[in-house]
Amino acid sequence: MMPYQKRGKPSQKAIAVVTGAGSGIGRAFAIEIAQRGGLVLCADINLESAQSTVELLKAQGAHAVAYACDVSQPEQMQKMASEASTLLAHPVLNPDARPVSLLINNAGVGIGGRVDELKLEDWEWCLGINLWGVIHGCHYFTPLFKQEGQGAIVNVASAAGFGALPEMAAYNVSKAGVMSLSETLYAELKKFGIAVNVLCPTIVPTNIMHNGRIPEHMTGLAHKAMSKLAFTTAKKVVIQTLDALDAGQLYTVPQPDARLVWAIKRWMPSTYAFGLGQAYKLTK
Ligand SMILES: NC(=O)c1ccc[n+]([C@@H]2O[C@H](COP(=O)([O-])OP(=O)(O)OC[C@H]3O[C@@H](n4cnc5c(N)ncnc54)[C@H](O)[C@@H]3O)[C@@H](O)[C@H]2O)c1
Repeated sequence: MMPYQKRGKPSQKAIAVVTGAGSGIGRAFAIEIAQRGGLVLCADINLESAQSTVELLKAQGAHAVAYACDVSQPEQMQKMASEASTLLAHPVLNPDARPVSLLINNAGVGIGGRVDELKLEDWEWCLGINLWGVIHGCHYFTPLFKQEGQGAIVNVASAAGFGALPEMAAYNVSKAGVMSLSETLYAELKKFGIAVNVLCPTIVPTNIMHNGRIPEHMTGLAHKAMSKLAFTTAKKVVIQTLDALDAGQLYTVPQPDARLVWAIKRWMPSTYAFGLGQAYKLTK
């Protein structure tokens, strides 16, 4: 292992891979990293949308590459990990061919439904992308970062990872898993100087409701929540996350409502569960 070379703030002049970079929070990460002088591999299952993000970055004078990758498929993630650094070499902006230094495991999907109505196939779809996608990213990039003696990882979880709202079991479980993985990695990688941050937002206005599997009886509520309860933007959340990463913090809980739930759940877990059950009873 090479000795760790301190390279300043991980979000500055990063050589970055962003998954799910074709829309929403992933696109905002790609734009902000480019604004901080970085080069970005914009990966998405939808190559066309990744390409649109690349066009936006190129218009800012940044170097970016679109890459088709389904995060739920280990062989595709392995291939991306092996090719990313070469694709991000650039004669002017990265003449020394610095390898990937920042991984944003962002790709994810939304899903709703009670435990008794969710199909097993829905669980597999959600966990395959939201949890296994992040596991694949950490699995294939961590050895590269350790070998290089540098690197940083942002995993996009959700306040659902600790809020555990009813009728969102598959999503909640996937995000709780991402939080636990991030906490474990943070401890494991500290001695290698590799920073880890986990982002846990409540509602951020993006396309997640359009691309998800939301049962018909929940779509009205989901769209209302997205339009009425989103008090932030993807750009704001991304800036908070990258600043927290630079400060060496593990958690980014960006909105006041997310921080309130986080505090009640931590300090009064039984009261929180009781209150949630009572509130849910009133909705039926
Ligand atoms: N928007 C919110 O309210 C919110 C809240 C908390 C957490 N999150 C999390 O933020 C992340 C980004 O979601 P978003 O809100 O920007 O949604 P979005 O739908 O706008 O963007 C998600 C992107 O991921 C891509 N994607 C989907 N499946 C993929 C796969 N298998 N492989 C690669 N790419 C894939 C999509 O094509 C899309 O470009 C997700 O992990 C989501 O769970 C979102």
